[in-house]
Amino acid sequence: MQIRQLPETLINQIAAGEVIERPAAAVKELVENAIDAGASKIEVVIREGGASLIAVSDDGIGMSVEELPLAVERHATSKLPDNDLVNIASLGFRGEALPSIGAVSRLTITSRPRKDVAADAASITVDGGKKSKISPAAHAPGTKVEIRDLFYATPARLKFLKSPRTEAQNIRDVIERLAMAYPDISFKLVHDEKSVLDLPSAPRLERLQQIMGRDFAENALQINAERDGIKLTGYAALPTLNRGTNQYQYFFVNGRPVRDKLMVGAVRGAYMDFLAYDRHPMLCLFLDIPAGLVDVNVHPAKAEVRFQDSALVRGLLVGGLKHAIAEAGHRASTSVAGQTLQAFQTPISQQHLPLNSGPWNGEYRHSPPSYGATRGVADSGGYYAASNLALDTRPDPFAPGARAYVQETPLQDNDVFPLGAACAQLHETYIVAQTADGLVLVDQHAAHERLVYEKMKQAMADGGIARQSLLMPEIVELDEPSVERLLSRKNELEELGLSIESFGPGAVAVQEVPSLLGITDIRLLVRDLADDIVTYGQTVSLKEKLEEVCSTMACHGSVRAGRRLTPEEMNALLRQMEKTPHSGQCNHGRPTYVELKLHDIEKLFGRK
Ligand SMILES: Nc1ncnc2c1ncn2[C@@H]1O[C@H](COP(=O)(O)OP(=O)(O)O)[C@@H](O)[C@H]1O
Ligand SMILES: [Mg+2]
Repeated sequence: MQIRQLPETLINQIAAGEVIERPAAAVKELVENAIDAGASKIEVVIREGGASLIAVSDDGIGMSVEELPLAVERHATSKLPDNDLVNIASLGFRGEALPSIGAVSRLTITSRPRKDVAADAASITVDGGKKSKISPAAHAPGTKVEIRDLFYATPARLKFLKSPRTEAQNIRDVIERLAMAYPDISFKLVHDEKSVLDLPSAPRLERLQQIMGRDFAENALQINAERDGIKLTGYAALPTLNRGTNQYQYFFVNGRPVRDKLMVGAVRGAYMDFLAYDRHPMLCLFLDIPAGLVDVNVHPAKAEVRFQDSALVRGLLVGGLKHAIAEAGHRASTSVAGQTLQAFQTPISQQHLPLNSGPWNGEYRHSPPSYGATRGVADSGGYYAASNLALDTRPDPFAPGARAYVQETPLQDNDVFPLGAACAQLHETYIVAQTADGLVLVDQHAAHERLVYEKMKQAMADGGIARQSLLMPEIVELDEPSVERLLSRKNELEELGLSIESFGPGAVAVQEVPSLLGITDIRLLVRDLADDIVTYGQTVSLKEKLEEVCSTMACHGSVRAGRRLTPEEMNALLRQMEKTPHSGQCNHGRPTYVELKLHDIEKLFGRK
């Protein structure tokens, strides 16, 4: 055996193995080149998922006849003018993409330089690594790069191509990610003659709406934070707009789409208080960081970065997101109302079918009957009359436990209160409030749980939770292990506002309870806390589990589900929600209230 230098084509094929993993990777390289060339329009045409053709056209600066052969040379680039790997201002910098692609496919580049009006277009071909001579061509200023038969020269890689649909989906994903970072550029994708993406240039939020949907655009908070020269911008969803996977989280560092564990972790940290562990907010974040503080040269596809000061970056993300979520106050996402309306719509039209003794004819929709008789349900008693219209299989509204509390005169100034004036309590669980332009339905238990949690957090931050001492200590009997567990956490419980003392075997005496709980069933509370401590184990501090402890405490507080509330109590709860940050969702990302606009309710009844 002899050590020898590998032929250039083989070197390029090896490089292609890293850089061009699949058609989408080739598209990424070509589109990045077009972006680096200052294009304002980029069009991608693919056939058979990119396996037979990938063509990327741009209206950027183009290349001259002299530059064309250099572009396909290995390690030839126009992008590191000062040989400075620190201050990289472009997406590309390695000069590897075009020669790698040329080594494994039939590559044709046609280009015409923008700055030289007199210059003609020219083209060059690289077929399985063999370069052709330059030939004259016809083309507008800009560049078109065509890849035919990708991986034909490396059959091993060819075998790993997935179905055209899957490859096309990956390509679309790559283009969408770049399009998010460059909203000024218009992007198109055509697959097998069909238009798949058509994104005209737009302001950033509009571009995000084109890709992530209206729901996101309507329920996203604008993020704007800066620390030590590092800027964080973008949009993040209200916690109530969450998903079961984190694939709708998009991160960019200096305009480069990245997948970064640190950033994903920071998001989790920022939303921890508002979302269950398996729920993920949708978001799109852009980090602009001075070139010297980040290394982008750590991954062949440049999809990973390394931060010099990762704690700083994490702090910026967590802080920026938390701040935005706090600013949103009690706002919950409108998508919740949308889902509610949808849920109303389907069953209601079905319910009417048997009454009409014939197929739904739609007339009702166009000429609604007079609503006079059933309007103003609260003061005319029409609520009951209206529900008696329904089939008698409905629950009896007069049955015990189904009573609705009805408020005679709602507050007058509901314009000044976003959550409106309480009108009724339903099923001893839901508060109905009238707002200036709609109605609000509040889950009193979820809302109260959140309020207690926020208050406890605030109180802890301010140096302690106010305690209320009991006139007579309450003796709670428990099994001995539970007593042991509770006593071992005595100091921590004290900090949370609950003082307990040993009271012989199998019992504790409760002397003080957190005053913000109001009237509480102390026995149940203490038993549940003992159970909680078992679940957390010995090592976790109760403060770390504050959210759960608060949930347990709030559960036993005064506003549990299934308790009658007076009008004053209901209104007090609404006013507190308005004042309390994060009160739009419970501790698990579920909404605490739903708002329906009059406008939508009218549509529901065919009045609009
Ligand atoms: N669409 C394009 N428009 C203008 N010039 C281009 C385009 N694509 C490639 N080039 C030129 O070819 C060079 C090599 O491209 P590439 O192999 O992707 O490496 P890199 O992008 O890392 O420089 C680029 O530096 C650039 O000068
Ligand atoms: Mg490149």
